[in-house]
Amino acid sequence: MSDNSLHIPFNRPFFSGREVEFIQQAIAHSHISGDGVFTRKCHTFLEHALGVPRVLLTTSCTHALETAALLLDIKPGDEVIIPSFTFVSIPNAFVLRGARPVFIDIRPDTLNLDESQLERLITPRTKAIVVVHYAGVGCDMDTIMQVAGRHGIPVIEDNAHGLFGKYRGKYLGTFGCLATQSFHETKNFTCGEGGALLINDQRYIERAEIIREKGTDRNRFFRGEVDKYTWLDVGSSYLPSDILAAYLYAQLEVRELIQSRRQRIWEYYYEHFESWARNSGVRLPIVPPQCEQPYHLFYLLLPSLEERQALIAHLNARGVNSVFHYLPLHLSRMGRQFGGKEGDCPITEEVSDRLVRLPFYCDLTEDEQMRVVNALREFAEQELDEVR
Ligand SMILES: Cc1ncc(COP(=O)(O)O)c(C=O)c1O
Repeated sequence: MSDNSLHIPFNRPFFSGREVEFIQQAIAHSHISGDGVFTRKCHTFLEHALGVPRVLLTTSCTHALETAALLLDIKPGDEVIIPSFTFVSIPNAFVLRGARPVFIDIRPDTLNLDESQLERLITPRTKAIVVVHYAGVGCDMDTIMQVAGRHGIPVIEDNAHGLFGKYRGKYLGTFGCLATQSFHETKNFTCGEGGALLINDQRYIERAEIIREKGTDRNRFFRGEVDKYTWLDVGSSYLPSDILAAYLYAQLEVRELIQSRRQRIWEYYYEHFESWARNSGVRLPIVPPQCEQPYHLFYLLLPSLEERQALIAHLNARGVNSVFHYLPLHLSRMGRQFGGKEGDCPITEEVSDRLVRLPFYCDLTEDEQMRVVNALREFAEQELDEVR
């Protein structure tokens, strides 16, 4: 495609317009390292909005997961149950502590962890269960919390996709003892690279602050609770600069605007594809009635890998950038080192071949969306039969 103005990217980070103003304020405060005025504003905003006892901004969701692994004292020989259909940061956070990831398959409808398989995978070594609310659509938290509770296993919610999504009227990220958020540029709210740890179990608050501040009680020192700070525990530097927090706050404060724009985009796709998908064997996202999604992404499940690849190529040739999502972790080189093999997670293997994500960002115009819809319909009319 030669005319760049016609190109429709997969993602474009949202810009509310106040980011630079807030960054200038952060600079004027002469506190651009971590835990400055804007970090506190983001913490308070998220704690109030979600009803979480303590939120700590981190440098990424990956680092929030690493903090969670340290907080749960994960050790060599421990096992952690993780969906195979997810991002590599989750197993990495636990493998860094010497644990073995035990991969669980997903449900065919929501593409979330299949809770009916949990009991089978739990052993005396299981030290955590990590759930991922794929596309911000809640996992079956009733069953998951019951099974985990029965075995006394902590649940961590990776809520990278699901900020402000709900399950049975309760915010995602408020079910597990810990939850993690991402503010990477592909997420609904962003500061480029960033994340947060949501702490629902008060017992973890003090130690989380220490781990995030290089294993020291520097937070308590800044609050005037101790007269010097020192090395108390293992830790790292997981707090973002206040400049990033200023950028993020400019987005959080327009939460409703972001959510309503994303909802419009998601519904437009859904309405325009509904009957076409039914007649073409293409599956659209499923959102169960107990789930309120934050409209993070829109995917299609094509009938086969060949058709998915042909669609991505077709859209690319028309300047529309679409992408696949998540290769099965159990079949990656690392996953195989932990014993993963073909057939372990059949739904993950199949979905990974068939899923395509369409352009989805706040500024996507109706004209652009119409072009995506038309390019897809054209594919269905001209090419789908050939591939089949
Ligand atoms: C489910 C999930 N968890 C974690 C991450 C990692 O997020 P970050 O880039 O903020 O570390 C991603 C990245 O997209 C993700 O999809």
